[in-house]
Amino acid sequence: MIVSGGASGLGLAAGMKFAQNGYDIVIVDIDAAKGTQAESEIRKLGVNALFCQCDISNKAQVEEAGRLVREKFGRADVLINNAGLEIRGSILQCTEADWIRTYDINLKGIYYMSNAFVPLMAAGQGSVINTGSILGYRAVGERAAYSSSKGAIDTLTRSMAYDLAPNGIRVNCVAPGAIDTPLLRGSINDSPDPAATEQFLNSKSVLNRMGRPEEVANVMYFLASDEASFVTGATWFVDGGWSIL
Ligand SMILES: NC(=O)c1ccc[n+]([C@@H]2O[C@H](COP(=O)([O-])OP(=O)(O)OC[C@H]3O[C@@H](n4cnc5c(N)ncnc54)[C@H](O)[C@@H]3O)[C@@H](O)[C@H]2O)c1
Repeated sequence: MIVSGGASGLGLAAGMKFAQNGYDIVIVDIDAAKGTQAESEIRKLGVNALFCQCDISNKAQVEEAGRLVREKFGRADVLINNAGLEIRGSILQCTEADWIRTYDINLKGIYYMSNAFVPLMAAGQGSVINTGSILGYRAVGERAAYSSSKGAIDTLTRSMAYDLAPNGIRVNCVAPGAIDTPLLRGSINDSPDPAATEQFLNSKSVLNRMGRPEEVANVMYFLASDEASFVTGATWFVDGGWSIL
């Protein structure tokens, strides 16, 4: 299983979940310190783990990761396109550099990663999971680039599912709500009133709490498994009910 952004948060939880179920794990992440740490944590579970330090918006680096995986493992079963960047700003506030960086990582990163790893999937099997967001469906303030890029991931998922179906590859999307990861913690702590922000995020779930990374990883695991053999092109909300509000 290959997971981008696998050094932290949802990607790390996915790596642990799949490793607990016997998968070898490839972590593709830009953060060397966290990536190396994640690699050793996963190895402790008794499977092979490989950390590829890589910026998924850099084509040459992603292609190199693809070459390494082909050499070491010879094939890919599951690809989780999970790394993402969230930059604050309305359409008027967002700088051009931030707009481009967001789209380069959140969307073009999926393009590069899919081109590097989908060809390693054996004919007739394989599963791709893209990490979208509830913010692709529900508006909050000052997230123009992020929310629109996540909405595009939902559309891209359907397009990929259609095109890769003849290869026996299923493609689905998870759309998390507020999940307590380092990314969201950072955003809470940087807000003018962290306690109020946390309360706001809790209130965006009918369960009145944020989710845990493992709760998203469990759904990713299900979607990749044969239990979900007739599920493709779908977006699964893992949002404590934010989408029904
Ligand atoms: N946490 C939430 O509430 C939430 C909600 C909805 C969607 N998401 C999405 O889930 C995904 C994971 O977020 P998280 O909360 O686990 O964040 P996180 O910050 O804990 O983990 C993200 C990981 O991605 C890596 N990364 C960032 N840019 C990269 C790049 N260019 N190349 C390779 N790796 C890169 C980071 O180093 C980090 O390890 C993101 O796509 C995010 O948008 C998160």
